[in-house]
Amino acid sequence: MSTAVSFPSAQPAGYEWFTDEPKFDPTRHLALEAPTEIVMLSDLGYDDAEIATKATPVACSSPFRVLSDEGAEIMLILARRLLDFAKPAGDRIERMTRGGCYRSRWLRDLCISPEVSAHMASIYGVDVAPHAMPLHLGHINYQPTNLSDAVDKWHHDTLPLDCVMTVTDPATLDGGHFEWFRGTKHEMVEMRARGEVMPRERVVAPEFPGPGYAIALHGNMIVHRGAPLNALGERISMVNGYVAMDSSADEQSRSRDLIVVDDPELLYTEWAKYAAWRAHERLGALIADLPFGAGSESASAKLEASIVDVQRAIADMRAGEVVVEHYE
Ligand SMILES: [Fe+2]
Repeated sequence: MSTAVSFPSAQPAGYEWFTDEPKFDPTRHLALEAPTEIVMLSDLGYDDAEIATKATPVACSSPFRVLSDEGAEIMLILARRLLDFAKPAGDRIERMTRGGCYRSRWLRDLCISPEVSAHMASIYGVDVAPHAMPLHLGHINYQPTNLSDAVDKWHHDTLPLDCVMTVTDPATLDGGHFEWFRGTKHEMVEMRARGEVMPRERVVAPEFPGPGYAIALHGNMIVHRGAPLNALGERISMVNGYVAMDSSADEQSRSRDLIVVDDPELLYTEWAKYAAWRAHERLGALIADLPFGAGSESASAKLEASIVDVQRAIADMRAGEVVVEHYE
């Protein structure tokens, strides 16, 4: 099993484990199935040079089953309990709960499950691990109280890779579809600058057959949203983050967006460890591979590239709050 940064063994202040939940059992609670379709970044219009710097050339998958019926029932019960800890994400999402993996061992064990991680790696076509920042594990979105609001506005993610899973049954809802844009985020920026609305013929709304189904997303590269509901109803989704184990690709994160969103008790510690892991991997590769005769320019440039994520983390932490980005 690949691990970027191990899930902490210590509990952060203010987080208590649920004491009355079942133990996660992959043989009973998982029912992993392969997706039937994989969409590539090149299908969205990204060019080879840009794709080469990213975690994977995969953009997203069609929906595939993750949880058994029993697993989906437990997930729904836990998600409802975690609503007690919901907060807004700027003006992008009205209600979401993060840090749930420090409260529910079942959710934690699902999110760091080696079986699920291996499944995700097979879809992405690269080795991946549960995200190094546990705040990005088991993120839960809830329907807004205002019907006209999108569940989550058009955006691309603050993390590279994620798995978006239905917790409630989509068949019970009118609207509230998960949607993605068949185009690049650069096109989205240009369309927004021209004041154009999202062209409906380029929006894909995959059918999720039930609760406990997910799609794999290259979330930092694919523009997506949770569309508004047409009638009030319970709509819960769970998002689990992943990172590519090959740290030579771009970091693809906007952790600074999290300053106004996340509990500082968790954020800076997790963020520092994530940046340190990235640099640690890159420095390790430099130690292993740097040949004699590298020369001043090459050696200094390689050292600099190895610590770029650490330098950016330091600068972003010190620069402080920034508005949560979205396209609306
Ligand atoms: Fe997202």
